[in-house]
Amino acid sequence: MTAFTINGRTVDVSAVPNTPLLWVIRDELKLTGTKFGCGVAQCGACTVHVDGEPVRSCVFPLAGAEGRSVTTIEGLSEDGSHPVQQAWVALDVPQCGYCQSGQIMSASALLARNPSPSDAEIDEAMRGNLCRCGTYLRIRAAIHRASDV
Ligand code: FES
Ligand code: FES
Repeated sequence: MTAFTINGRTVDVSAVPNTPLLWVIRDELKLTGTKFGCGVAQCGACTVHVDGEPVRSCVFPLAGAEGRSVTTIEGLSEDGSHPVQQAWVALDVPQCGYCQSGQIMSASALLARNPSPSDAEIDEAMRGNLCRCGTYLRIRAAIHRASDV
């Protein structure tokens, strides 16, 4: 069994320790906001926070979460009031939406460690999050908007 906290709730899951955290989150804990894109740490769709740091949950083993605090898009705020979520809505960032929970998790982790990032810092922090719809300019604008809150 592996015990950890997810979105403030303590869980104890029975999946084998090398199971990717993504599958535990989606299949066992039924939190489907976190998406599967590539499965090989190349797209960022599966991004969650572990102790506040963004990780690619498709390649992060369940064992790595033992005793730690995991946050998914469902736990970023109870009501969508996180400044990044509000900025995303205000600027109508998503297109198809598939990549966006990962984008938001990477953006919120960036702003937690750097409250006022430059364009270059945003691009560096977000370059591992791909968007096939090409919403990159709106993502950058929304991060600037959230940084002003
Ligand atoms: S699904 Fe994890 S990085 Fe693509
Ligand atoms: S909004 Fe469609 S992949 Fe990013």
